[in-house]
Amino acid sequence: MNIAIIGAGWVGVTTGAVLAFLGNKVKGYDVNSKLISRLIEGNLSFYEPHLPELVREQLQADRLQFTSELRTALSNADVVFIAVGTPVAADGQTVDMRFVGDAAYNVGLNLQPGRFQVIVTKSTVPVGTNGWIESYIEQGLEEQGLSGRVDYAVASNPEFLREGMAIADTLYPDRIIAGSGDERALKALAELYRPIVDQTFEPPSFSPRPPGFKRAPLVRVDPATAELIKYAANSFLATKIAFINEMANICDLVGANVKDVALGIGLDHRIGGAFLNAGVGWGGSCFSKDLVALVREAEVYAYTPQLLKAVLEQNRWQRLVAVRKLQDVLKTLRGRRIGILGLAFKPETDDLRSAPALDIIRRLNELGCVVRAYDPVAVPRCRETHPDMPVTYGESVMEIADGADALILVTEWQDFVNADWQAIKSLMRTPVVIDGRNALDKQRLEGMGFVYRGVGI
Ligand code: UDX
Repeated sequence: MNIAIIGAGWVGVTTGAVLAFLGNKVKGYDVNSKLISRLIEGNLSFYEPHLPELVREQLQADRLQFTSELRTALSNADVVFIAVGTPVAADGQTVDMRFVGDAAYNVGLNLQPGRFQVIVTKSTVPVGTNGWIESYIEQGLEEQGLSGRVDYAVASNPEFLREGMAIADTLYPDRIIAGSGDERALKALAELYRPIVDQTFEPPSFSPRPPGFKRAPLVRVDPATAELIKYAANSFLATKIAFINEMANICDLVGANVKDVALGIGLDHRIGGAFLNAGVGWGGSCFSKDLVALVREAEVYAYTPQLLKAVLEQNRWQRLVAVRKLQDVLKTLRGRRIGILGLAFKPETDDLRSAPALDIIRRLNELGCVVRAYDPVAVPRCRETHPDMPVTYGESVMEIADGADALILVTEWQDFVNADWQAIKSLMRTPVVIDGRNALDKQRLEGMGFVYRGVGI
């Protein structure tokens, strides 16, 4: 099929590259022409494992193109994806829908008659946005004098990709959600996703098919339900993490072990073992944003979602659990040299949006600590996006450990887990480790003479 993708960010580029890999002709467009120039050269503006290789391969095979001309991107497209950002608005509560509105209006300004086209929203948007998008497309069409003369339908197809796992999550999803009131749109999406549903493609070498993976069901729903499924999925996952973090805090009080609690409850197939790792709470671009947006959405209808609000509050509290543990061990924090291991909100990404490390660094600074940090990939982004962060950066774990009174592990990069902890200890002023992700071997570290504190273990 011929595909156009509006928005050349993480979702847009991943979707485009994977659809090209599956044999479609894909044209990616973005209003940011600098981004497009870089992509034409095969250069990405964010970190996602193996995506640069896939993009370059598909560019070379001529299945993937990037353009800063929207009309070029839309010409011949059977399916047009809107994959632009939906950040939190300046009020900190609502979703900033400007980019979606602009994209939809510009689609209307550039759509041409002659073929049926499906305009699909991949961006995470509040419930009811599908109709709103249609009204923007209509405005554009009216402006062109083509109102009523272009055959198109809108659909919602939310993404569930995890950063660092974007290619595998696209090729081997748990499900594909297709929401539309138009049967032809649903058919087009079913056709587009058939190779993924039936798993008929040859996996790329860097992303093998998980053992036993056979099919990815495509679930057909109405657009509002599709939009809510995305929010509900993220809210549920965030709730699961907040729940296990609450259990971890109780474990700390009563002397139980949260890893074993997670194992013990996770073996119940109704609960499941995934997303039960306790720690310093979730970060990232999605969970907080989507929960806040869903709370806001419910409040518009005079309903207060107590559970979701409590989940947000729990996560706010959890972020600073590592600092409280440090106070418990070191007592006075003023003047202490604290090393932060990990800045990104999780491993395999340089994304710092809503990253717990940033809150921890700010709090330690308020408490009078001298903070140094290291992350295998996120340091350049942190320098660029948070130039005022009260921290200095090191180039290795050893540099951060040198002279430190304590280390806090915030992101569970393998580099940290596999580091030479004996050598680290010999460099530290006092051998204190706060493991904010329960990623290190407690017994081994204690055996080496570290004062070790995990979260609920
Ligand atoms: C999430 C959703 O998983 C994905 O489906 C959606 O499309 C986008 O949002 P992502 O933000 O990339 O993906 O990260 P994810 O792997 O879900 O982790 C989110 C946060 O939760 C991270 O900060 C991670 O460290 C934390 N987390 C995750 C835990 O604290 N404990 C867990 O058990 C799992």
